[in-house]
Amino acid sequence: MIRKVLLSFATSIFAGLLAFGVWQWIESTRFPAPGWTPLEALTISSLWLGNLPPLGPDPSNAVADNPDAIRFGHQLFFDTRFSGNGQVACATCHQPSKHFTDGAALATGMGITGRSSPSIVGTSFHPFIFWDGRADGQWAQALGPMESTAEHGGSRMQYAHLIATDSDYRQQYEALFGVFPDLSDDARFPARAGPVDAKANPEVAAAWDAMSDADRTVVSRIYSNIGKSIAAYERLMQSAPSRFDQYAKEIQDGDNRPSSILSRDEVAGLRLFIGDGRCIECHNGPLLSNDSFHNVGTPHLKGKPFDFGRSIGAHQVVKSEFNCLSEYSDAEPLQCAELRFVKRSGDDLTGSFKVPGLRNVTKTAPYMHAGQLADLDAVMEHYNDAPVPLFGHTMLTKLEFEPHQLQQMIDFLHALDSDLTVDPKWLRAPEQPLSQASTQ
Ligand code: HEC
Ligand code: HEC
Repeated sequence: MIRKVLLSFATSIFAGLLAFGVWQWIESTRFPAPGWTPLEALTISSLWLGNLPPLGPDPSNAVADNPDAIRFGHQLFFDTRFSGNGQVACATCHQPSKHFTDGAALATGMGITGRSSPSIVGTSFHPFIFWDGRADGQWAQALGPMESTAEHGGSRMQYAHLIATDSDYRQQYEALFGVFPDLSDDARFPARAGPVDAKANPEVAAAWDAMSDADRTVVSRIYSNIGKSIAAYERLMQSAPSRFDQYAKEIQDGDNRPSSILSRDEVAGLRLFIGDGRCIECHNGPLLSNDSFHNVGTPHLKGKPFDFGRSIGAHQVVKSEFNCLSEYSDAEPLQCAELRFVKRSGDDLTGSFKVPGLRNVTKTAPYMHAGQLADLDAVMEHYNDAPVPLFGHTMLTKLEFEPHQLQQMIDFLHALDSDLTVDPKWLRAPEQPLSQASTQ
């Protein structure tokens, strides 16, 4: 009897130990060894926000860090009068509450655009802006949507008159850029004129063509100063340190197995991100972007024209009326190295898009240049499958991860969530009395 009891006792201990062993084994496959090798630790430190150099000056924009330009740009960013129908502002598609995106696949202003609104946060660090990098600075970028038919749908002449006639705006402009040019001669400076899409707005385009070169330059300079003020405001928008950064800081300080700050799933996701997932090949540095352009085989949007991405954007930025080397730039030519050495040819540019930074990426669904992928699950499935693109060559190879591993990578991306460093007052529309600024 006693032997029987002892035997069954021993059996249950054995079974318990076995179960514990099996559980441990399963756990070890889900959460591999917790310590980091010196090379892994170095890689993780390279993603730490503390290793981001301070934002340098923008030589092409003399007012980039001017507090008055920031205030002026703040108003312009939210003001819907800068549009063809009085209803569209930058903030329509770049809403502070959605981390400066709009939550839509394709952005909608006066029409529907062919791409998705990326966040403006952190873009002051990127040498090239837009999904295809067709602008080489924030001020030049801002001037694109304002004259695009599907976005603001207005013209630079209209905007110049608006500043001329709004006494508050005019005062702010003059304090920054000197005396406002006299635009009162209607024959020389019509109400609406600009190099807009002539098919959509033939009269506006024709009025622009009819103006003298000298007058056009006067108006384009006002227009570029609008962009420079908006850029000054945008430069405020930077991500604050995240939980991941606390973890990376501990690693940087020499602890190769920091505890508690990240969950085990988040740490496992980080391991995949810098390891077998190979995400780090493109999403690297403290902003998790290599600032380059790659084809990752993002699915084509049915019924839409093919989007060749960087192979066209690289030519556009060189030709751009408002780039770093243009007459409206405040930079010396030698300060425009990125533009002077831009790569314009090569198979690898076809179907390539800018590698987006991944800080706060959990807040900006849907994803990819035309919002093709609805959520992060879809993005992870995409990387797992590495589909063959319709044109060009994908840089990806299949990952063949288990579903729980894909989830762990998403968990890691959540560890990159943070607030912005800026005072929240800059995230609201400016106070009314200054002008009739919209509360969009
Ligand atoms: C109708 C919606 C819409 C409006 C209005 C709009 N944008 Fe955008 N914005 C977009 C879309 C879509 C893109 C991506 C376009 C592309 O890459 O071709 C974009 C791209 C950008 C980028 C580049 C981000 C990056 O990561 O490269 C910045 C910065 C930006 N917009 C700022 C502005 C500013 C400033 C204004 C106002 C002057 C503005 N936008 C008005 C939709 C809009
Ligand atoms: C070969 C370079 C490359 C690699 C490797 C890579 N990415 Fe990307 N990633 C990109 C590019 C380029 C885009 C934008 C593609 C587009 O718009 O069509 C992107 C987009 C994303 C987006 C969407 C961001 C947004 O704002 O829309 C996420 C999330 C992302 N990548 C995460 C990852 C993860 C996780 C991995 C590893 C499994 C990874 N990436 C590997 C280049 C890369």
